[in-house]
Amino acid sequence: MLMIRRKIVFIALTVSVMFACGGRQKAENDIEVKIDGLLSNMTLQEKIGQMNQLTGLGLSADMIHNVKNGRVGSILNELDPKTINELQRIAVEESRLGIPLIFARDVIHGFKTIFPIPLGQAATWNPQIVENGARVAATEATAVGIRWTFAPMIDVTRDPRWGRIAESCGEDPYLTAVMGAAMIKGFQGNDLADPGSMAACAKHFAGYGASESGKDYNTTWIPELQLREVYLPSFEKAVEAGAATFMCSFNDINGVPSSGNAYLNKTILRDEWHFDGVLVSDWGSIEQMISHGVAADLKQAADLAANAAVDMDMMGFAYINHLEALVQEGNVSESAIDRAVRDILRLKFRLGLFDNPYVEIREEMPFYTAEALAKAKQAAVESAVLLKNKDGLLPLGEGIKSVAVVGPLSDAPGDQVGTWCFDAEFEHSVTPLTAIRDAYGENIGINAEQGLTYSRDKNELGIEKAVTAARKSDVVLFFAGEEAVLSGEARCRADIRLPGAQTEMLKALKKTGKPIVLVIMSGRPLAIGEETEDADAVLLAFHGGTMAGPALADLIFGKAVPSGKLPVTIPKMAGQIPVYYAHKNTGRPGRNVSLIDDIPVGAAQTSLGFTGYHLDAGNDPLFPFGYGLSYTDFDYSEVRLSQNALSTGQTLTVECTVTNTGKYDADEAVQLYIRDRVASLARPVRELKGFQKIYLKAGESQTVTFTLTEDDLAYWHADMVKRAERGEFQVWISTDSQSGTPATFVYN
Ligand code: BGC
Repeated sequence: MLMIRRKIVFIALTVSVMFACGGRQKAENDIEVKIDGLLSNMTLQEKIGQMNQLTGLGLSADMIHNVKNGRVGSILNELDPKTINELQRIAVEESRLGIPLIFARDVIHGFKTIFPIPLGQAATWNPQIVENGARVAATEATAVGIRWTFAPMIDVTRDPRWGRIAESCGEDPYLTAVMGAAMIKGFQGNDLADPGSMAACAKHFAGYGASESGKDYNTTWIPELQLREVYLPSFEKAVEAGAATFMCSFNDINGVPSSGNAYLNKTILRDEWHFDGVLVSDWGSIEQMISHGVAADLKQAADLAANAAVDMDMMGFAYINHLEALVQEGNVSESAIDRAVRDILRLKFRLGLFDNPYVEIREEMPFYTAEALAKAKQAAVESAVLLKNKDGLLPLGEGIKSVAVVGPLSDAPGDQVGTWCFDAEFEHSVTPLTAIRDAYGENIGINAEQGLTYSRDKNELGIEKAVTAARKSDVVLFFAGEEAVLSGEARCRADIRLPGAQTEMLKALKKTGKPIVLVIMSGRPLAIGEETEDADAVLLAFHGGTMAGPALADLIFGKAVPSGKLPVTIPKMAGQIPVYYAHKNTGRPGRNVSLIDDIPVGAAQTSLGFTGYHLDAGNDPLFPFGYGLSYTDFDYSEVRLSQNALSTGQTLTVECTVTNTGKYDADEAVQLYIRDRVASLARPVRELKGFQKIYLKAGESQTVTFTLTEDDLAYWHADMVKRAERGEFQVWISTDSQSGTPATFVYN
């Protein structure tokens, strides 16, 4: 009887899934038919109008003229719902074909309620947290009428000098792909046509994170093997995750700017991955092909971009001014225009804008809800990475009767939200000082003195005041780092140490003999070797967003336990860059390192050995990818394999038992790495292939199981085919990218 009932349920489920898929397919087919109808009615000028994206100018005469005459397809940066509705009304009621507009905005890590910067979100190693953040952002931004966000930014980068590392998910293709997909899911929800959903935009396509010397917009040289192995996987995954749109990057790759790169935009994105969404240029990036030196003028730039399948020109004025002539002269085919317009109309249909173009004007906006703030706080808790905790200083115990709260980031509401927060209202930011006062002010003495008023401040007079506060306290909480404006677009640094007199301030505080907790709030990993030596505990909190303060207070006083892990390697100094865990071994891996100060005067040239390292930095980074401590300890058992060989079409189960051997209940991000021991091309010493964040009570154990398939072993070969090679592999399940003992299996 039970069996029969199960079967009926199974059949019913299968049929409903089939109907759902069939229903979706039918809806998509209907959309194409509607697009055919529209396209057949559109003039060339109207088509080109759809391909034009302009920045908001309110209800200016210019904008009204453009909307009425079908000369604009999308508007970015317009935020007033009433203005949005009026522009939309003009488009729908007064333009000849009534095609609605799409309103867009950079909603990167929150609209009003700000979550940690994406690099911090990646440090959570918790895709659910990331999805929650994007969902909250969508709920808030769609309430004003924004239906398209320019996020996620899924540029892999191995260069902390680059300011946009803050917006990225760090150095690893796999971690970036997983986090990017989670953001897409959060922004787009279950149904793009839901007025609470925003189209996501996978950006910047592609290779932007490889900018030479970490300088923004700079040239990149990326061999295709590396492009496919490092820079493209997150984008391919974004297509699989249903990203509705993509954005070109500013950089050139091997001499070809992305906005004119037909190989990237047609061959890979459209032909290989079958992307059928909108590809928008970056701001002025079509026009900037003139500066790159590949187009003589705006007309040639428009020609290059249109022939490279860039659908929409963001603030470049290249398409609107020149496409018509280019079509008439036969340089751009009308079918290329139709294809682009089809993508744009498809997006508008998918967003439900033809049926429901207007945003509801609400009395109360769904901003900063208790639920959103709780999610933002949890994200900030999980994004903080504990780098050092000498003698278990953290969490602060009951014996602590007074704390000094010092440092330029201790009470900096605008800086803690980080880069790309145009819509954040700083009065909603809860700073560490406020949070500590609110939660503990009644029971412990709080001696607050910023010392330095902003991160670049060099005025040492303030330091003395902070030292006085430290002398009166049991523990010093030093909130250091970078102002928000020091990371993000065009905010690159050649020197990645703490700016201003922060290091001097730490030294002065250390002289008091008081234990020091150093909290770094920054948009990038900073070279904090000296500071890590001087401080007793170090917590890397990134820019944690609206709720950074309460999250840090919970972590410092033990209401929460750190579980963040580095999504990027921290170098000892900028000269080590690029330094990343998935490097190749080389023929002479760095061993027997003799550091510069240890070399005897007059040492013979041959006396130091010949291996690959820097005389002044050695071979290791300051902290490796995946690293992060907890207040508890985790023990990892040996890695167990379901069998010693993996054959084509089979799976291999890899597991280990993780035990919480310490005193605190805590989360742990368990990481799976492999290495192909002997291959026809040199392979990285380790590659991340999976991770799981688990929660273990003190004393509890859990078996953590991963499955490897042939696809996990495969890599790109010179013939641009991804395949696995037969032979021996190592596999680790470990707490970071450098620890653990591998098991071995054979792929046969
Ligand atoms: C950035 C993009 C952003 C766009 C629109 C550009 O400068 O590179 O990431 O989406 O501006 O604001």
